[in-house]
Amino acid sequence: MTEDLTLDAKMATYEKNTRISIPSYDSLFAMIQSYYRVQLGENASLLVIGAGGGNELSAWAPSNPKWTFTGVDPSKEMLKMAKHKAVELGIENRVSLIQGKIDDLPRQNSKFDAASCILVLHFIDDVQEKLKLLGSIKDNLKSGAPFVLVSAYGDRDDAEFQDRLNVWKSFFLDAVWESSKVDEMVNGSIMNPMKISIIPENQIERLLAESGFTNITKFYSTGLFGGWICHGD
Ligand SMILES: C[S@@+](CC[C@H](N)C(=O)[O-])C[C@H]1O[C@@H](n2cnc3c(N)ncnc32)[C@H](O)[C@@H]1O
Repeated sequence: MTEDLTLDAKMATYEKNTRISIPSYDSLFAMIQSYYRVQLGENASLLVIGAGGGNELSAWAPSNPKWTFTGVDPSKEMLKMAKHKAVELGIENRVSLIQGKIDDLPRQNSKFDAASCILVLHFIDDVQEKLKLLGSIKDNLKSGAPFVLVSAYGDRDDAEFQDRLNVWKSFFLDAVWESSKVDEMVNGSIMNPMKISIIPENQIERLLAESGFTNITKFYSTGLFGGWICHGD
């Protein structure tokens, strides 16, 4: 009971703060769903990298009753939230959650019809590791399958990034966060390359191309974050 309450409280905080940081978070998932639905049809297997929290499941599983989901995430705590959501939504039979990284995916005969990697890439500090992850995602996809990447992006030394950072800060200040708390977040994590690895958008697009993705299209941008749709070759 106590554990459930703690999990509920953690989930509520995650849900709330993510939507402050990304006010169009729910629209983002709706946009991705539209693209997948047009590309995939009724039956599809989706690979969700960074499935912790379970928001990909709650956004896409109920309206697509034949889609199956394989979620990968190293965080036990975040996966607990995803599992909780899967149970609440009654979709456990279509969801497989793996605690680990993409290399921990069980060997299987068929590749996935689509993949997503939402708000994960900036937590991987080494550029070669980012490339390795994107390459492994591509290798796990059927030819031509859609892939959606959403990540913080930019060059911290660039005025354009600082302007976007000010926009992002305004979301928290307007949600009545204390400015000292917002500054702490900016200085402690956003501006700290040891905490968050933010790379420019042209580098993200190069990594996607180097990993073998084609038709790389930036479809989304808000505050600090951008989204790209592309396809396995
Ligand atoms: C901000 S959360 C985003 C979760 C979810 N995609 C969403 O949009 O709500 C980032 C997640 O990425 C996970 N993560 C970090 N490194 C990862 C990796 N190498 N592979 C898969 N997931 C990873 C974290 O554990 C965390 O659950």
